[in-house]
Amino acid sequence: MATSQEQLTVERPVSPERAGTAPAPTPPVGLEAWRDAPPVLYSADEVSRRVRALAYEIAAERSDRPLTLAVVLRGAFVFAADLIRALIEIGVRDLTVEFLSVASYRGMASEGARPDVHYVNGVFPGDGRDVLVVEDIIDRGHTLEAIERALSSHCERFRVCALLDRPHLREVPTGPHYIGFTLDTDDFVVGYGLDLDGRYRELPYLGRLPAPPRS
Ligand code: IMP
Ligand code: MG
Repeated sequence: MATSQEQLTVERPVSPERAGTAPAPTPPVGLEAWRDAPPVLYSADEVSRRVRALAYEIAAERSDRPLTLAVVLRGAFVFAADLIRALIEIGVRDLTVEFLSVASYRGMASEGARPDVHYVNGVFPGDGRDVLVVEDIIDRGHTLEAIERALSSHCERFRVCALLDRPHLREVPTGPHYIGFTLDTDDFVVGYGLDLDGRYRELPYLGRLPAPPRS
C-alpha cells in the first residue's frame, strides 16, 4: 500500500522547473477529466465572449455614480469574477463588490416561492449608489423578485445582469436588464459556477442535464 507521501508524489502535477529533466506533465485537462461530463450547452469560449460583450453593454449604460455589484452566491461567483475583470479591462472604475445569498433550490426542485435574502456583510451598503445584481440564472423569477424587494428601494438605480434567462418558466413579472443567454428549453444548466446539489460548479463551460420534473 502506498504511503500518504507516495500518494502525494503520484497525484500532484510536477512543475517543469522542479522536475528538472522529467517529462512534461500531461497537457491541460480536457473534458475527459470530468466523469459523466454533461453535454456542452455553451462552450467556455462562447461564455467568455458573451461575458465581455455584457461588460461593454453595462459600461455603456452606467451613470457617473459609484457602482456596487451585488453578487448572488453561490451560482454567480464564476460569472461575477469574469464580469468584474472584463469591466476593469475596459476601463470601468469606482466599483465595489458585495455578496448576497438567497435560499432557493435544492436539487432540481424549488424549496418555496418566497426565498430569504441574506447579506454576507450583515447590511447592504446600497444607499446613493447604483446597484447591479449579478445572478446566474433567472428561472421562475421568485429569487430575483425577493432580491428586488430587498434592495431596489435602497439604491439610486437598480439593475440586474443574469448569465442565463429562462423567460418561458417565469411565474412572477420580473427579469434581468442584461442577459448572457436566453434559454428556450427546460434543461437544467450546470457548470461555470452553477451546480446540481454541489456538483459541476467547477466545469469550465455551461453544460445541460435533462429537464427536472416541474410541479
Ligand atoms: P427562480 O427563483 O426560479 O428564478 O430560481 C432561480 C435560482 O434557482 C437560480 O439563482 C439558481 O440558483 C437556481 N436554478 C434555477 N434553474 C437552474 C438551473 O438550470 N441550473 C442551476 N441552478 C438553477
Ligand atoms: Mg442563483
